[in-house]
Amino acid sequence: MSSVIEVTEIVKTYQMSEDNTVRALRGVSFNIEEGDLVAIMGPSGSGKSTLMNVLGCLDRPTSGSYMLGGQEVATLSDQELATVRNRRIGFVFQSFNLLSRTTALENVELPLLYARNGASVSSSERRKRAVEALESVGLGDRLRHKSSQLSGGQQQRVAIARALVNHPNMILADEPTGNLDSVSSAEIMAIFQRLNIEQGITVIFVTHEPDIAAHTRRILRMFDGTLVEDERVANQVVVYKAPQVEQQVTTQDTSQETVSIGQAQEVLA
Ligand SMILES: Nc1ncnc2c1ncn2[C@@H]1O[C@H](COP(=O)(O)OP(=O)(O)OP(=O)(O)O)[C@@H](O)[C@H]1O
Ligand SMILES: [Mg+2]
Repeated sequence: MSSVIEVTEIVKTYQMSEDNTVRALRGVSFNIEEGDLVAIMGPSGSGKSTLMNVLGCLDRPTSGSYMLGGQEVATLSDQELATVRNRRIGFVFQSFNLLSRTTALENVELPLLYARNGASVSSSERRKRAVEALESVGLGDRLRHKSSQLSGGQQQRVAIARALVNHPNMILADEPTGNLDSVSSAEIMAIFQRLNIEQGITVIFVTHEPDIAAHTRRILRMFDGTLVEDERVANQVVVYKAPQVEQQVTTQDTSQETVSIGQAQEVLA
């Protein structure tokens, strides 16, 4: 596996006044392999959100290198960062960040409208992709509900669908289950695991809860702006159930072929 993220000596400081500098990240280095599922933990103020914003190309580090898919992104302009973000990354926030009087469909279509090349995505194509994304998070029956008419867990699933609609190869989420009960949190973990296992999407999220972090394969721990621990999860909690459709079938010429999940779902539909 190759590293999709290579972070080297990332520093982020905020100059509040002449004699007050906040050192949010003090030289953080790590790699993340393509297709991994990673939790970032650590106490409040330890720099988790700052790190996620850098990883998500929402912000630039003060110094250090951030190689994303082999490209140095630490020094890109705002416009270039936005392009990278659009192409590669889906970002999910703790507070969902949906428009409240707007339907699930419209919320999910938004990134396609705002995409720099948005003009090339027709309204019918936008609708089709939004429906697909919402169906993929189990909300095919809530397409026309407004955000205010959805539960917290459902709103977060809309936010995940919105993050998916540009077909990113990476999902980043800052405390995605922070406002959710344990049942809804497990649903979100099942979605992350499915995206990770079925589509190989790299998933990185922040959590304060050890039970939620246990759903990943790797935990990075932050303390006071530094990475203090990098742990492989020994007994990953797997809540995603693979559909029982992968099977060996005997064809007429008696040779064996494997039916892919996609083909089988078509056949079973
Ligand atoms: N825009 C900013 N301007 C100034 N200081 C900031 C800014 N953003 C974050 N900080 C400071 O940087 C440090 C790290 O903040 P950060 O939000 O990354 O912490 P966190 O680990 O995400 O905490 P929490 O668990 O509470 O969300 C904190 O001391 C915070 O006050
Ligand atoms: Mg935070």
